[in-house]
Amino acid sequence: MGFLAATGAFALVYVAARLAAFFYRLLCPVKLDITKFGEWALVTGSTDGIGRAYAIELAKRGLNLILISRTKEKLEQVAKEIQSKNPNVQVKTVAIDFTKDNSIYTTIREEIRGLDIGVLVNNVGMSYEYPEFFDKVENSAKLVNDMIRCNVDSVAYLTQMVLPDMLQKRRGLIVNLSSVSGRRPVPLLALYSGTKGFVDLFSRSLAAECASRGVLVQSLYPGFVVSKLSGIRKSSLFSPTPEQFVTSAIDRISLPSTTGYWAHELQDFGQSLLPEFLSNKATMFVLGGVRARALKKRNKTQ
Ligand SMILES: NC(=O)c1ccc[n+]([C@@H]2O[C@H](COP(=O)([O-])OP(=O)(O)OC[C@H]3O[C@@H](n4cnc5c(N)ncnc54)[C@H](OP(=O)(O)O)[C@@H]3O)[C@@H](O)[C@H]2O)c1
Repeated sequence: MGFLAATGAFALVYVAARLAAFFYRLLCPVKLDITKFGEWALVTGSTDGIGRAYAIELAKRGLNLILISRTKEKLEQVAKEIQSKNPNVQVKTVAIDFTKDNSIYTTIREEIRGLDIGVLVNNVGMSYEYPEFFDKVENSAKLVNDMIRCNVDSVAYLTQMVLPDMLQKRRGLIVNLSSVSGRRPVPLLALYSGTKGFVDLFSRSLAAECASRGVLVQSLYPGFVVSKLSGIRKSSLFSPTPEQFVTSAIDRISLPSTTGYWAHELQDFGQSLLPEFLSNKATMFVLGGVRARALKKRNKTQ
């Protein structure tokens, strides 16, 4: 075979493999029953957005819940709402701020002792107030501390806490919330992108370690979902509500990595075709506009 023919054949195989992986993720032919992993599900960041929607959906399917979030009153409100709709489901709440030091994990360990945790949803996360150059972020040392503790440490420590039991029982599911922002560089959200990149690689590596040992690990990397964190208030084709997103994502737990939602799968595939320098330029342009508007608004109110 000549050099050109060999290159052409290789390119064809590469494109076919990419397309096959894309369609497999898009259609996700294997649906699993999320209640089969154990009696309890632990969801972090469960009083709003995606985490709250996970908690409500898991309770609807009959799992008992441990809800961990920052605000006690909001936790009690979500727990009450869940129990009024699902009287047979037990709900435990733990008020924890994930930006605090590691002693929070001793508290969590005590709270979950003896419970058969089958599902862990590492959902808690924070981002910038608005897109900004890393060197210009106000109070950046605090942002670095808080974001790494909240977005990175929580995922690693909670996984480290529940995984040994899951492996011993040879059943369990760990869903870690990454983001499309963790799959490629996002200038003006550099620290957020970096923390979500950690979650993505950690989860995919762990998924490969655990696949043959009975425990599923998933890197879930959505695009925009309506929430406080995203700042998006109205749903659209590419920005589902947390409830629409979670119903779809739960059907995709068999995948070690997924956006969780068909429109985000299309978006991610499209973005992956762009060369990095073009993607960076486009992101700088779009987020630069968001930054300029945020700064203007702030200057007006000061
Ligand atoms: N929304 C999106 O477009 C999007 C896209 C990709 C990935 N994600 C990821 O999805 C996850 C959830 O995002 P979301 O949009 O649903 O967020 P959200 O609506 O802002 O909700 C965040 C939840 O986390 C809790 N929380 C925040 N900081 C905390 C802290 N320091 N300690 C304890 N709890 C804390 C909040 O509790 P309080 O109410 O008490 O503050 C709330 O329950 C995040 O990891 C995010 O990175 C979101």
